[in-house]
Amino acid sequence: MAPYALYIPSPDRYRFFLSPPGTSMIRLRGVNKFYEVGGRPLHVLKDLDLDIAEGELVAIMGSSGSGKSTLLNILGILDAYDAGSYHLDSQLIQHLSEADAARLRSRFIGFVFQSFNLLATKTAAENVALPLYYQGVPRRQRHATALRYLEKVGLLDWAEHLPSELSGGQKQRVAIARALISQPRLVLADEPTGALDSATSREIMDLIQQVNAEGITVIVVTHEQDIAAMMRRTIRLKDGRIEGAAP
Ligand SMILES: Nc1ncnc2c1ncn2[C@@H]1O[C@H](COP(=O)(O)OP(=O)(O)O)[C@@H](O)[C@H]1O
Ligand SMILES: [Mg+2]
Repeated sequence: MAPYALYIPSPDRYRFFLSPPGTSMIRLRGVNKFYEVGGRPLHVLKDLDLDIAEGELVAIMGSSGSGKSTLLNILGILDAYDAGSYHLDSQLIQHLSEADAARLRSRFIGFVFQSFNLLATKTAAENVALPLYYQGVPRRQRHATALRYLEKVGLLDWAEHLPSELSGGQKQRVAIARALISQPRLVLADEPTGALDSATSREIMDLIQQVNAEGITVIVVTHEQDIAAMMRRTIRLKDGRIEGAAP
């Protein structure tokens, strides 16, 4: 499974692999991730064990390069891992085809990114409706649903505006509405306030807390302590390991 012979799980860890998945929504056991850099393996995530229950609000902290985005991308089935196991809602996330991964993502997960990732030539409503477009929902219904979600994030009046006409905070609200429109059970946000001033950051985090209050599990990557303080639990990554976990 691992592309490099370098990593050999200890017998101790195999016991973990054999235990049946529990009730955690997210369950990582002995997860390792390598990138290849200049023809050599770079060991980015090291033996991660992690449980996150449905409904949790979790911050992932750590310095730049500590593996936060890599971990979030694995949790979001955007990237594969090299050793260990990842169960999402008791389903083993491993060796999935791109089509199966896309299906799971669209059914379970909403994403929010630092750079908003809005389509510049589409209006706010069209951007929010995009996931429904891929699900084959008819245009009229897509638009009506998008308006409901824009209202939810306080942007109904901006539905027909292009991203270039919106402030950073408004763009992130559009992105959050887009993440919510497919009714995900898990929202993953990678430095969602990284491009925003502190007052706007606080508003976006209030919105993220509201999302969580509706029962959606939310994981936020941040390197800002005051943002992490608004979460209910903080996981710290250091050199690819979860701090406080056994080495
Ligand atoms: N696609 C990639 N190819 C090679 N190396 C990568 C890739 N993505 C990330 N890395 C490296 O992996 C490490 C962790 O990166 P990342 O997960 O983005 O960290 P963080 O989000 O905590 O800043 C860094 O050393 C980074 O340079
Ligand atoms: Mg990152």
